[in-house]
Amino acid sequence: MALDLFNSVKLGTIQLANRIVMAPLTRNRAGEGGVPQEINAKYYAQRASAGLIISEATPISAMAHGYPALPGIYTEAQIAGWKKVTDAVHAQDGKIVMQLWHVGRISHPSLLPNNALPIAPSALKPAGQAFTYQGLVDFVTPRALEIGELPGIVADYVHATKNALAAGFDGVEVHAANGYLLDQFLRDGSNKRTDQYGGTFENRARLLLEVVQAVAAVAGADKVGVRLSPVNPFNDMKDSRPQALFNFVAEALNPFNLAYLHVVEGGIHGAGIAAPFDFDDLRGRFKGAYIANLAYDKARGNAAIASGHADAVAYGVPFIANPDLVARFKVDAPLNQADSASFYGGGEKGYTDYPFLQVK
Ligand code: PHB
Repeated sequence: MALDLFNSVKLGTIQLANRIVMAPLTRNRAGEGGVPQEINAKYYAQRASAGLIISEATPISAMAHGYPALPGIYTEAQIAGWKKVTDAVHAQDGKIVMQLWHVGRISHPSLLPNNALPIAPSALKPAGQAFTYQGLVDFVTPRALEIGELPGIVADYVHATKNALAAGFDGVEVHAANGYLLDQFLRDGSNKRTDQYGGTFENRARLLLEVVQAVAAVAGADKVGVRLSPVNPFNDMKDSRPQALFNFVAEALNPFNLAYLHVVEGGIHGAGIAAPFDFDDLRGRFKGAYIANLAYDKARGNAAIASGHADAVAYGVPFIANPDLVARFKVDAPLNQADSASFYGGGEKGYTDYPFLQVK
C-alpha cells in the first residue's frame, strides 16, 4: 500500500509517529522579556499529537525581533520558559523543534535595543508597514550589515541553538524563508551587495550555508532542518531567477545530510506567487527528507506523500483551530474554522480554547 500521512517517518534522528507536521505559527503571546508562559506550554501540549511541532519563529537575539510579544531564545529566563513547553509536549509523547529567526529589515527601531535601525544585506526599505506596539508604522530604511559583522550573526545562531537544546528541543529549524534575514540575503531583490555575500548564487547563499554549518556543528546535522520559500512575495520579496537560485540552494544543502528541507510552496497570507516555479524539480535536487507546506488539505497531503513529492506535510492554520488535527484527519471529522482576529496577540481566546473532538 502507498504511504500516507499516518505512517511514521524518521527525519534525521527525529522519529515522528505520523507525517502531519504543525507548521511554525507566530502567535505573539509570550510574557515579559520574551519568556514563554504556562499558557504557551498548554497550547503546544494540546497539539502534541502532530508527528512534529515546529515552534513559532523565535528571535535568536534582541536585534532579531520584528513583532510584539515574541518569545526569544537568548536569555536564561527564555530557556526556562521554553523548557516548560518542551516538557509539556514530551509528556504527551510529542516531538518539537525550534524555528530560529532573525527578521533582518522586517522590523522597526521601536522594537529594537536603543531604537537601533533594523539590519539587512543592503540598505533597501521594504514596501509595507511594521507591526509595532504603537500599531502599524511604515518600514524604515535598514542599515546594511558590514562584512565584519556577519560572524557575529552566525554566532547568534549558534548561541540560540545551544539554548534551544538546553531548553529540551528535539532539534532546530533555520528559518531562511518569508522575507526575513537569511532570505533577504538569498534573493536579489533585497541583496545588492558587491562583496562575497552578494551577486552570484554562491555568494548570496554564503550566509545561510555558514549558519547551517555552524548550527549543525553544535546540534548535529541530523537534528537540523532548513525552511525556504522560493516564490513567496510576502515582505516585498522577489528574485530574478528563483528556480535556478533555489535549485542551487537545495543542492548546496545536500552535503550536510540535514534532518529535512521544509518548503513554503507559494505565497503566504493570501499572496500569489512571485513567479512560476516547479517544486517537484526543487524536491528532486534535494537528497534528504522534504516537508511540503502551504494550503494542503488531507487529500493533497496524502497524495504528496504517496507520490514521493514529500516525506511529511506541514499544516498551519488548520492546527490553530484544531489541536487534534491528526485525530480529525484520521476519522474525516469536520474541522473547526480558524478565527483570524485572534491569530496575533491576546490570551486564551482563539489560542487554547478551540474544542477537541468529543469522544463518543
Ligand atoms: C507573520 O507574523 O506574519 C509571519 C511570521 C513569520 C513568518 C511568516 C509570517 O515566517
